[in-house]
Amino acid sequence: MSRFWSPVVQSLSPYVPGEQPKQQDGIVKLNTNENPYPPSSHVLAAIAAAVERLRLYPDPRATVLREAISARFGVAPDEVFVGNGSDEVLAHTFQALLKHDAPLLFPDITYSFYPVYCGLYGISYVEVPLDAAMRVQLADYRRPGSAILLSNPNAPTGIALPRQAIETLLNEHPDRLVVIDEAYVDFGAESAVPLVARHDNLLVVQTLSKSRALAGLRVGFAIGQRPLIEALERVKDSFNSYPLDCLAQSGAVAAIEDDVWFQDTRRRIIASRDSLTSALSALGFDVLPSQANFVFARHPGRSGAELAAGLRARGVLVRHFQKPGIQEFLRITVGTDEQCGRLIATLRELV
Ligand SMILES: Cc1ncc(COP(=O)(O)O)c(C=O)c1O
Repeated sequence: MSRFWSPVVQSLSPYVPGEQPKQQDGIVKLNTNENPYPPSSHVLAAIAAAVERLRLYPDPRATVLREAISARFGVAPDEVFVGNGSDEVLAHTFQALLKHDAPLLFPDITYSFYPVYCGLYGISYVEVPLDAAMRVQLADYRRPGSAILLSNPNAPTGIALPRQAIETLLNEHPDRLVVIDEAYVDFGAESAVPLVARHDNLLVVQTLSKSRALAGLRVGFAIGQRPLIEALERVKDSFNSYPLDCLAQSGAVAAIEDDVWFQDTRRRIIASRDSLTSALSALGFDVLPSQANFVFARHPGRSGAELAAGLRARGVLVRHFQKPGIQEFLRITVGTDEQCGRLIATLRELV
């Protein structure tokens, strides 16, 4: 606290990211949903080549990257917005499109950054409860509100809605913006991007942090019809003209274009998730059906806090949320088979 703080700063409850230990040797890091594999070698080569351009400002419109994303998703380049991680894309979305008199609706258990953005931008919101199976029930969104925001697959449950359900929601609420945060969609869920052409009330947000193994590069994007993208550009150009540096732009283009690496890596992670789910179930865990690169699991005989602390003491980091309704759960990122093996061996000592 300081007398120089503006009132909004005094009222903020900032997001707390998962731990990034300084010393990573010997640690099995399954706490922040990073990809356990290195990014495509094409990304590293593209970044090395871009170093020559560091003297210059980067392209403020990230034209080549937006074209690469548009080609991959079959949309027009001006239907693509890029930002410094999908967190920044989401932040601009909250400010540009989600601040209205009626409250924004999102699930009570979802990405914990959403209420933080509401606090920052003064947006009223209602947290809509998940059902007893921790699923989103679309009928629960038939209540007063200005817009709907869903993470699909949801985080931290990993449970996804099919594309058809998103289309039902869009049809049911044609006058509400529906934002779908697809940070984890590449691990087995259906993207809503093909619905953009016929729904002017849909904005889809994705990231290169998870399925492209580029959390450190900070690249995210949104796809939507032109008026929505224009709103994001207006906020971006009133905030920072150059959110993506030239290394990030070049690396991201190479990542989007390397489909062989992408398909191979996501298949490996999906296969490891299935083995991890079976191994956890065999230890007595109740594991939610995940379509993400993490699983959400609880053990009937051990508390989430106790297990997370026991794992941590043995060099295995997972995420535990001290929040009513989910405090018995652990969110475990799918690592390599070797990392998952160490997690399971360690849990065997604890349960
Ligand atoms: C649901 C969800 N959305 C968005 C993000 C932000 O990802 P990034 O800013 O790395 O693109 C995360 C990160 O964990 C997430 O879990």
